[in-house]
Amino acid sequence: MSKIEELKKIKEDIEADKNLPLVSKPEDVIPGDGNPDAKIVFIGEAGGYHESIQRKPFVGQAGKLLDKVFVEIGIERKDVYISNMVKTRPPENRDPTPEELSAFGKYLDRELEIIKPKVVVTLGRFSMGKFLPFAKISSVHGKVHKLQWKDRDIVIVPMYHPAAALRNGNVMAQFREDFLKLPEILKEIDTPEIEQMNLL
Ligand code: URA
Repeated sequence: MSKIEELKKIKEDIEADKNLPLVSKPEDVIPGDGNPDAKIVFIGEAGGYHESIQRKPFVGQAGKLLDKVFVEIGIERKDVYISNMVKTRPPENRDPTPEELSAFGKYLDRELEIIKPKVVVTLGRFSMGKFLPFAKISSVHGKVHKLQWKDRDIVIVPMYHPAAALRNGNVMAQFREDFLKLPEILKEIDTPEIEQMNLL
């Protein structure tokens, strides 16, 4: 199966999973979206109104902010992959519960297993909590965390959620500053370690 077919299979499996909370019909599902060969994956929390209509992550106001910062750092949506912890819209856009996060977790694991990104940018505290369960976003945002994830080296860069940035000017400044570091982080990861040592 190609990566595209494997990702499509995940969508179908979610749609058919009768044990998932918050999914009463296949159309409730908001699957991950983007480039199956992406070096960088962004993970949000759960869909909102616009995402539930278009069945695509980050297409509302928070998504517009993401698109804006993508342009600022010279990347395009088609280069990256975007998904959510919870692949549907919780009622009244409330926070996802631990049970909901856990129920959808295996599907995000499968997406990461297929895409094998070099960098995962977590947007907000829920996706950060998957990889850095004890971290506080105010202390770790914008910093590179190298860790082993399912026997693979992976780099996690936690960032504030774009919706939080839209609500608070200080968070917006941090969010943009963190985002502007991404090209440098990607460049460093692409530089072989021996070259990095010579640079020191
Ligand atoms: N917020 C999220 O966390 N994800 C979306 O897809 C949209 C808004």
